[in-house]
Parts: sequence; structure tokens; C-alpha cells
Amino acid sequence: MQPFTALLAATLVFAPATQALADATPTHVRKTNGCGCCLAWMEHLEENRFAPTGENMFAGLLVRFKVDNGVPQRMVSCHTAEIEGYIVEGHVPAADIRRLLEERPVAVGLAVPEMPLGSPGMDQGHRTEAYDVFLIRNDGTTEIFAAYLGE
Ligand code: CU
Ligand code: CU
Repeated sequence: MQPFTALLAATLVFAPATQALADATPTHVRKTNGCGCCLAWMEHLEENRFAPTGENMFAGLLVRFKVDNGVPQRMVSCHTAEIEGYIVEGHVPAADIRRLLEERPVAVGLAVPEMPLGSPGMDQGHRTEAYDVFLIRNDGTTEIFAAYLGE
């Protein structure tokens, strides 16, 4: 193989990975140190063309961040992500974030309160429970954005 051909082949091999990275949506995730389910949720995002970066915060400061950024107390979960100007609180499925980014409503963002079993990053064997994904409006009101059935 000529050197140039070899280089071209190498470029072709690496192109898909580079392309995937270029297409991934930057996502900044604030969480507490040692939060395993937060890391599991970030993996779920990574598998769905998001590029999450994690930032550990003290619990009190994280709660303050949530409140300051429009997350109502009843919507609070473990981590708080920022994605293209939206807040995504808790174990929200990647598909719902994609829909949010496509529809672009005037809103704070999405939330899955607490940590329902079976939501992305909260997989515990076969146990799943029903949960809703909420859209948080700018005035703090919420409405159901998506509903998931338990088993
Ligand atoms: Cu969690
Ligand atoms: Cu979390």
C-alpha cells in the first residue's frame, strides 16, 4: 500500500467516530460527588448522541442552583443538566430531550422528579414504575410532556 493510500484508509476508519462526536449535543451535568445513578444517566445520554460533562457540587449549592434556574421544589431530582439553554432535571429519557430540542417551547425545560425505578440510569433489574416527564414553564407551572407505564 502506498503511504497516501494508507493514510486515506486510516482517515476513513476514524471518520465515523469523529463524525459522531461532532454531532453529539453538548450537555453539562451538575451533580453531587459519588452519585452513581447520575453517571448511569450520563451513559444513557452518551449512547444517544449527547456529549455530557459532569461537574460535582456540594448538595446545598446544587439545590440553590436548581432553584435559581427555575426548577420548582416538587420537580427536584438528583442531577441538573443544561442542554442548549434548557434545564433538564433528573432521569429524563434522551428521546424526550430530543423532542424538546426539536419543538423548542418557551420553557425552563424538562424534569422527572425524584428517581423512579426503570427510568434511564435507574435500571434495577426488572422493576419499573410508572412516571411522567414534566415540562416546566417559565412561570413555574408544569404539564405532562410524556408518560411512561410501569410493569
Ligand atoms: Cu439519580
Ligand atoms: Cu442523577
